[in-house]
Amino acid sequence: MYYRQLTNTTFSVGAVDWNRRLFDELIPLPDGTSYNAYIVRGSEKTALVDTVDPTMADVLLENIGRLGIDRIDYIIANHAEQDHSGTLPQVMERYPESSIMVTPKGKTLLEDLLRIPGNRILSAEDGTVISLGDRNLELIHTPWVHWPETMVTYNREDRILFSCDFFGSHLATSGLWASAEPAVYEAAKRYYAEIMMPFRTVIRKNMEKIGGLDIAMIAPSHGPVYDNPSSILDAYRDWISDSVRNEVVLPYISMHGSTQHMVNYFIDALVTRGVMVKPFNLVSTDLGELAMALVDAATIVIGSPTVLTGPHPLVVSAAYIANMVRPKARFASIIGSYGWGGKMVEQLSGMLTGLKATFLEPVIAKGLPTEETFRALDRLANEIQEKHGSIMV
Ligand SMILES: Cc1cc2nc3c(=O)[nH]c(=O)nc-3n(C[C@H](O)[C@H](O)[C@H](O)COP(=O)(O)O)c2cc1C
Ligand SMILES: [Fe+2]
Ligand SMILES: [Fe+2]
Repeated sequence: MYYRQLTNTTFSVGAVDWNRRLFDELIPLPDGTSYNAYIVRGSEKTALVDTVDPTMADVLLENIGRLGIDRIDYIIANHAEQDHSGTLPQVMERYPESSIMVTPKGKTLLEDLLRIPGNRILSAEDGTVISLGDRNLELIHTPWVHWPETMVTYNREDRILFSCDFFGSHLATSGLWASAEPAVYEAAKRYYAEIMMPFRTVIRKNMEKIGGLDIAMIAPSHGPVYDNPSSILDAYRDWISDSVRNEVVLPYISMHGSTQHMVNYFIDALVTRGVMVKPFNLVSTDLGELAMALVDAATIVIGSPTVLTGPHPLVVSAAYIANMVRPKARFASIIGSYGWGGKMVEQLSGMLTGLKATFLEPVIAKGLPTEETFRALDRLANEIQEKHGSIMV
């Protein structure tokens, strides 16, 4: 993508990756992504904020060249992950006078992950201000969004917050501005669910920390630039809040139909009690959709048959991910079926210890569900309805 202009002195010089469909070899990218990098040209010095994934190094270098830049003084590395740092070696080679500015933790990570020589890296304390002449960039440490070394950079004069992954979205667009892309809200929620949700508590602190800044634009390292920053800040406040929705997320598998039968009955049992349900048949579930549903659901119920004494492997994978992203679900349970015996419930519940949820009694059928199974599912639906009623305001 040709460079685009944010202000008189700030340019988006990164790359749009229309075709990428998987991130970290795990996360589906239905809408591609972008690796945003920004040039800030002060009256005396020039800074590059972040780089791009090494697969697209040529786009970044070409855009910097198009701007006629022959000297970069500072390369600010807000984050050491390779989709933003991976092109640092090429930029440093092309611009030998440049120094990298990172947090102290970032310095170690860049040395370890990319073997960048330590003498080219300056570690910046929280609140360091870099003067470019008529523009000043403040480096603000915001750890754990989503690595220990992360920081954001604030352009004081143009009031732009370069937030890197924080507030990002995996969304490839030709337009620069979020206000012209209605899809950005969904993409940002997906991104939050997949990448940021485990750090909900620390995000609160980081949000407070940047809360005092006067921000005209948030320029993240993935997806469009927020020219209406309150929209994404409000969305984040909602996602990180403790409030949950009257909703059950129901990931499940059924090999021969028994668990499916239970799931079908259970969906109706919940809906007739006024509880919303999001079922996910894990045969064909996009894990991002599942993570997104977990952002605000009050309850997660996992459905599995018993396979070689434990849960179905696809359920294991989904449960592992649900546990890893640490959603704010308050209640959890398990439903499913077995033929002769095993430890499906014990194994599955043992995998969900990261959830700070109260476990409700599981419903397990031997083979096809019976009338007794359906009464037990009614009991579970009643319990969920009551529990939700007690926590909703
Ligand atoms: C490959 C395979 C392995 C299984 N292993 C077990 C097992 O270890 N213990 C058990 O009780 N049932 C086992 N079963 C039986 C299923 O758990 C049982 O048929 C259950 O009702 C299937 O539920 P579903 O119809 O929702 O797939 C196994 C079934 C299959 C196909
Ligand atoms: Fe990252
Ligand atoms: Fe990233």
